Amino acid sequence: MNMSKMSKNMNKSKTMNKNMNKNNIYIETYGCQMNFADTELVMGILKHQGYELAQDIEDANVILLNTCSIRDNAEQKIYNRLEHLKGIKRNNPGTVIGILGCMAERLRKNLIEEKKVVDLVVGPDEYRRLPEFIDTAFAGEKGIGVKLSRTETYDDIIPYREDGLNAWISVMRGCDKFCTFCVVPFTRGRERSRSLDSIVSEIKQLSERGFREVTLLGQNVNSYSDNGSAAGGDFADLLAASALVDRSLRIRFTTSHPQDLSDKLLHTIAEHPNICNYIHLPVQSGSNRILELMNRTYTIEHYLDLIERARKIIPSVSFSTDIIAGFPTETIEDHLMTLDVMQKVRYDGAYMFKYSPREGTKAFAMDDDVPDEAKAKRLNDIIELQQKISFEINQQQIGTEEIILVEGPSKKSDDFLSGRTDSNKVTVFPRHEEIKVGDYVKVKINRATSATLFGGLVNDKL
Ligand code: 5AD
Ligand code: SF4
Repeated sequence: MNMSKMSKNMNKSKTMNKNMNKNNIYIETYGCQMNFADTELVMGILKHQGYELAQDIEDANVILLNTCSIRDNAEQKIYNRLEHLKGIKRNNPGTVIGILGCMAERLRKNLIEEKKVVDLVVGPDEYRRLPEFIDTAFAGEKGIGVKLSRTETYDDIIPYREDGLNAWISVMRGCDKFCTFCVVPFTRGRERSRSLDSIVSEIKQLSERGFREVTLLGQNVNSYSDNGSAAGGDFADLLAASALVDRSLRIRFTTSHPQDLSDKLLHTIAEHPNICNYIHLPVQSGSNRILELMNRTYTIEHYLDLIERARKIIPSVSFSTDIIAGFPTETIEDHLMTLDVMQKVRYDGAYMFKYSPREGTKAFAMDDDVPDEAKAKRLNDIIELQQKISFEINQQQIGTEEIILVEGPSKKSDDFLSGRTDSNKVTVFPRHEEIKVGDYVKVKINRATSATLFGGLVNDKL
């Protein structure tokens, strides 16, 4: 039924929607883990208002895309998706189509003006008002909510999560770092933290529901600060409090900024057996000149010193990173410095990107002077080197014993189970009757590729 024809009256349409249980929401999520956590938040808000979640896009009368703006190709994906959604809307003109997340914030009403198929545009700090915007859209008007907030943390909202093993918890929002290439400070606003108490109580509930792993999320978790409560607390305090909730619950976190990662945090990771010995520490470039142009606020010497301290304090620690190839003015020498840093650190894994100019950032005003073929070639060098390093590191695991959190059947065969090590490596081993999803098992590694470890069970169960 076409709800916009049904009523022009917002309140009336709300009552009718609720009574008729007509509003079926379908959300697609793009981009980073923060967006996946935000989708759960949005589902929590909408469920609370009596909306139903559609399993299938065909059953939905509200389709929301939670979007990412980090690179141009992320936005192109959404434009392609909108072309496809046009068809759905043609068949069913009452369908409301909305854009949430970073693209909503970046492009605002331009999105509605340019893409006629879009009925509502809601940025990351306006999700509480989403039910209201949906009603506006059903009433035939376009809904736009793109104000950023200095205080909104959604601390009191319970995200909607299916039962599972692994939960994402966003502990802070926004970013104050203003790396010159990055849109996040513009699309997600200023940094603000949730309270330590509410995060810890969320973790308690997740543990009681049977979750076995939580990942604490923030654009820069090291500047987490609970300045609202009397006890206060920095990120190390939050990690320690999270780890004490349930010793059988693994605690992960991302992302750390190299400037803010403290020794206190490293000691906290070392002290708690259930905080994973794994740090995602984006380096971005190996050249100090480029790091300065990027406003990363550290030098490679500082970065390598931090890695060394971390390895002293947490002997089994492993690292992953983010790298950008072809930032403005990057020369071959700068590029070789990036390869050099990769060889020095020997990351377990890396997310590697071509530089993509983003309007409104400082770097956008710089000349994007590295030709696309050079960017592609450099990115390829970086990927090849990382694959080689990952392969070598995984080969060294052969013969060692690893504790695996069992996640389910392996992708390729039901005769095998799959899970992850403390350092987040997928590990595959033969199925065993008594081993269930959520168990911890000890596996002796006997084979490895650059992406996966293989092995046999040492004991049946821990
Ligand atoms: N171009 C390419 N990569 C980018 N990133 C952020 N902005 C850009 C951009 N404009 C990368 C950085 C960051 C990761 C989340 O995305 O490496 O750490
Ligand atoms: Fe973007 Fe830099 Fe903030 Fe990361 S730390 S979100 S790269 S501005």
